[in-house]
Amino acid sequence: MQVFKEKTPLQAAIKAAKSKAETIGLVPTMGALHQGHLSLVKQALEVCDQVIISIFVNPTQFDNPNDLEKYPRTLPEDIKLLEEASSNLWVFAPTANELYGDNISSEQFNFDGLEQVMEGKHRKGHFDGVGTIVKRLFEIITPHKAFFGEKDFQQLQIVRKLTEKTGLPVEIIGCPILREDNGLARSSRNERLNINEREKASFIYQTLLKVKELFGTKSAEYIHNWVKEQFTNHPVLKLEYFEIADTRTLEKINRKRKGNTYRAFIAAYVDDIRLIDNIALNNE
Ligand code: PAJ
Repeated sequence: MQVFKEKTPLQAAIKAAKSKAETIGLVPTMGALHQGHLSLVKQALEVCDQVIISIFVNPTQFDNPNDLEKYPRTLPEDIKLLEEASSNLWVFAPTANELYGDNISSEQFNFDGLEQVMEGKHRKGHFDGVGTIVKRLFEIITPHKAFFGEKDFQQLQIVRKLTEKTGLPVEIIGCPILREDNGLARSSRNERLNINEREKASFIYQTLLKVKELFGTKSAEYIHNWVKEQFTNHPVLKLEYFEIADTRTLEKINRKRKGNTYRAFIAAYVDDIRLIDNIALNNE
């Protein structure tokens, strides 16, 4: 395991690997690694010769300074977890200065509307921050393939759009959502839930499963109302949004179109802990 704090030695190592025709895979993360992240690393190891995990809590994608401050930073534990996965990984754990210099700010992007809905609507500037950092990581590392989780499906589609628009030659690979035994999508934020809340939070996934079932026979409007009703008076969860959207454009469904694929998305709070999840409703 090699840990790089600076981009110059990392770039030299990448150059050497590429000269041996090795395939470079990148898994961008913000650390506080869990099995969900590791599932991306495992997928990358299957199809790449050299896998790089970036660990960087990106300040420009947080719309709330308190959230940024509270974000867990656990580099020694992260490195230990990665070592168990493979001894041949490279970790890139830069400082903000290494990536941004003195100017910690976002570039403004147009992702053709993908950034306007759901997470984009509720977290102002979030996807400009994500776009800025992912673009920078792609420019520094020049990976052949980069791996992103479907857990953050909107982010995955935005990164695809980013590469399409910038022409950066990297293949984006979406990886399935890893869940806890009760169905709750794995997340660094689950650590902040107590046992009771963690159990209750599996309601999000249970609701999505039921939505998938209903999608075969009921209208989107019916399903919307049904979901809202399920969350009303829930003892622990507060629904922020529920959407059924076109997989490609992320536009709200108005009526089902033949040949289009759809996903259902939920964001909900347990106190101040924000949880998101989604599910494919028909074959993608
Ligand atoms: P982070 O939240 O650390 O997530 C890193 C990657 O792990 C993302 O692609 C995310 O979708 C994936 N991931 C997280 N939980 C998962 C799960 N349960 N199953 C499958 N994949 C999961 O997403 C970010 O960091 C940042 O926005 C980043 C892309 C690194 C830019 O700063």
